[in-house]
Amino acid sequence: MHDLRSWLQEVERLGSLKRVQGADANLEIGIITELNCRRKGPALLFDSIPGFPQGRRILTGTILDAARLGLTLGHRGVDSSEELVARLEGKLTEYDQASANFPPREVAHGPVFENQGFGNDINLLQFPAPKWHEHDGGNYIGTGCVVMTKDPDSGRVNIGCYRVMVQDEKSVTVQISSAHHGAINLKKYRDRNEPAPVAVSFGHHPIYLVIGGIGVPYRVSEYAYLGAMLGEPVPVVCGKVTGLPIPADSEFAIEGFCPPNQFRSEGPFGEFTGYYGSGEEQEPVLEVKAVYFRNDPINLGAPPGRPPHDYSYMYSLIRSVMVKESLVKDGVPDVRGVWFHEASGVNFFAVVSIKQRFPGHARQAAYLTAQCQAAAGHLGRYVVVVDDDIDPSNLADVIWAMSTRSNPEKDIDLLRNTYSSTLDPVYPKGARKFFGSRAVIDACRPYDWIEDFPRVAESSEAEKQKVLKKWQELFG
Ligand SMILES: Cc1cc2nc3c(=O)[nH]c(=O)nc-3n(C[C@H](O)[C@H](O)[C@H](O)COP(=O)(O)O)c2cc1C
Repeated sequence: MHDLRSWLQEVERLGSLKRVQGADANLEIGIITELNCRRKGPALLFDSIPGFPQGRRILTGTILDAARLGLTLGHRGVDSSEELVARLEGKLTEYDQASANFPPREVAHGPVFENQGFGNDINLLQFPAPKWHEHDGGNYIGTGCVVMTKDPDSGRVNIGCYRVMVQDEKSVTVQISSAHHGAINLKKYRDRNEPAPVAVSFGHHPIYLVIGGIGVPYRVSEYAYLGAMLGEPVPVVCGKVTGLPIPADSEFAIEGFCPPNQFRSEGPFGEFTGYYGSGEEQEPVLEVKAVYFRNDPINLGAPPGRPPHDYSYMYSLIRSVMVKESLVKDGVPDVRGVWFHEASGVNFFAVVSIKQRFPGHARQAAYLTAQCQAAAGHLGRYVVVVDDDIDPSNLADVIWAMSTRSNPEKDIDLLRNTYSSTLDPVYPKGARKFFGSRAVIDACRPYDWIEDFPRVAESSEAEKQKVLKKWQELFG
């Protein structure tokens, strides 16, 4: 289950893997990936990359749909988002609670140790690092990578997905937003004027995109959370230089130290908002002291960009599940569903559907969807609350409800001074700030005269079924 190669075999059996020979790391791989994501195409395994040894491969488009995301999370045979959401119902809370029983299992050897390089043997330029988007400021060896850092106070190891740009043969930069746990750990070392140990795994089972990207609570170790998801402890090897745990079946990993005062220019890089949010910035340098890789290593690429992009579907589905779980935990009754729309860059447009039970129920669901912990710490913009006859993931349904059941002069509320980040495109560069705003749109029928609200001009399900049965040849 934790090995990328067994994942690839299963995906190939499903007919969802395509091999691409000879695409160039300079933009071609990036553009092919971008076009493929728009079409929700197969996973793409790039080989024979010009200028690099045969067999040093890059994989993209791993979790673009419900079937492949389901398979990644251990749920085979899923064919719709609705089904996957239903299968995951309550699971995230279970994983969180069970994680204490699944600390990672340290092993002496693992496939990642098949090839090892230290000191002068390290040459990162021998591994393909695409320039993914036309206006990127560098070559990114790490997009679907996971970065291991340590809290020097508690010893807790954090895993986060943060992008990694190649600087030269023996160094890279790691870009981590200041609020993320990896950045907090690096800063703690910097404050002590000590080098921070860092390890990066570049190729692994795509489940690492989920556990490194979704924001597992700080008190829970991501390795343990993953163990709880898999139902068994994750095998890890200890880096020979830093001692940091590295997935034993990683395809390709590095480790080293970020010296306290070393920064180099990084970016710009096409972001998940669909824009170049930040420009060229100074980011921490990781001096690489060891490189480990399997024979014919596969680097897992996951470039963001104008949505839908490589990991927007995963974010959309998992964020929707997390926020629904949070509403249920908070006791909000009769939540039919929550959906964060990929088209918005995931966080900017969310819809919550409820069966209204009392006056104020709709606004309660909407405000909590905007501000519960699973949503609040991310860029956000609009939350629409709809009745339970509306499928929150169906934009046509949602727009119909917004257009016909909300009255702008009384049904749009604004929340001010909410979380934002420098990636928010609505603030001019230089004036960017860390406060943003949210609009809540109540597109439910008004509760106080709901019985008198005009009847929907559509036949009942029972009548439709009768006609469908009789006229099967018309509809298939
Ligand atoms: C594929 C992928 C790439 C990401 N790239 C970055 C990045 O470059 N920098 C960053 O700060 N966050 C990035 N994120 C978001 C963080 O991984 C995410 O917010 C995560 O929860 C942070 O974990 P942490 O809170 O343990 O630091 C990325 C997420 C994914 C799934």
